[in-house]
Amino acid sequence: GKGRYNHYMLKEINEQPEALRQTLNGRVDLENERVELEEFPEGAFEGVDEVHFVACGTSYHAAVYARQLFHDRGIPAQAFFASEYATINPPLGENTLTVAVTQSGETADTLSALRRAAGKGGRTLAVTNVVGSTAAREADDALFIRAGPEIGVAATKTFSSQVVSLAMLAERMAEDRGAEPRADAARYLQALSDLPDAIEQVLGDTSAERVASAYADSLSHFFIGRGTGHAVALEGALKFKEITYEHAEAFAAGELKHGPLALVTSETPVFAVLSGDYDEKTYGNMEEVKSRGAPVIALTDAPESVSRVTDDVITMPETHEDLKSLLANVQLQLLSYHAASLRGRAIDKPRNLAKSVTVE
Ligand code: M6R
Repeated sequence: GKGRYNHYMLKEINEQPEALRQTLNGRVDLENERVELEEFPEGAFEGVDEVHFVACGTSYHAAVYARQLFHDRGIPAQAFFASEYATINPPLGENTLTVAVTQSGETADTLSALRRAAGKGGRTLAVTNVVGSTAAREADDALFIRAGPEIGVAATKTFSSQVVSLAMLAERMAEDRGAEPRADAARYLQALSDLPDAIEQVLGDTSAERVASAYADSLSHFFIGRGTGHAVALEGALKFKEITYEHAEAFAAGELKHGPLALVTSETPVFAVLSGDYDEKTYGNMEEVKSRGAPVIALTDAPESVSRVTDDVITMPETHEDLKSLLANVQLQLLSYHAASLRGRAIDKPRNLAKSVTVE
């Protein structure tokens, strides 16, 4: 049941530390500074020269986040909407690994992309929460994210567990491909292990709830970011639309001035996810919207450095740069939850939506 929570969504947001402990359990070896995935013996990814992520919705955003982590480790990776995979029809080399990222393992679009890759002779991997799901059974291999059952239609804890699972996959794959170990391996792996505690700190913070009510009368909520911050901006906007029924949109911070800036007014608060990737450039984008009268809310671990360009700040604890946006995402989950709750929405079962979309 929901226990002391009014909604499964809030319960699942709060379960993230425990879910991540399960995701990480036995997989990060701090002593030898490496990741160990029980499913994959040494050399399992030796031949892989490119990764195609196929996914939908929140799982697609996890793939967009992960793409950057793979690139940082020298692994060519692309993220596709599963429903677009057939149309875009990317060439598939014999050493391309198609990775289906799917919480349920039953999403029709994702299964169809997976089957397409397999049909072309490609190797496949399912990254999923459900042992025994169709994706897990059909793919050559499966990596389980171990987040525990998710009931709320809005995906929350599974996003965090997907990103962390994919982060570990990137490390394992880099090792098999003979990449140099990360220069910051000890600090990164420690930060991964400490992530459940960092999320616990975020969950104790009430700023997202305060901000949700401060901007409740807005015409639209905009989310901007760069790199992993863009992935999380996309996820923040999806969650906001899905459960508040209000308009929300995400932009790569640098794209604002190429069109969307025309929409920006005092009635469109702009949430900036500061991921540590070229933040100075994002400050510039924040100034652009501020000078058009839009309220600017920063998600950051360094509030003092943005006070000049913000009306409000949502602060996160410090962590490794690659994981910062994951903490910002938890704040955005809380923002959407409280915004939807203020409006009295059917948070666990938003209109028109199903937990698992089994038609193409
Ligand atoms: O089970 P999957 O991860 O394959 O589901 C993909 C999407 O349908 C899902 O993430 C959807 O976008 C969520 N309702 C978002 O909160």
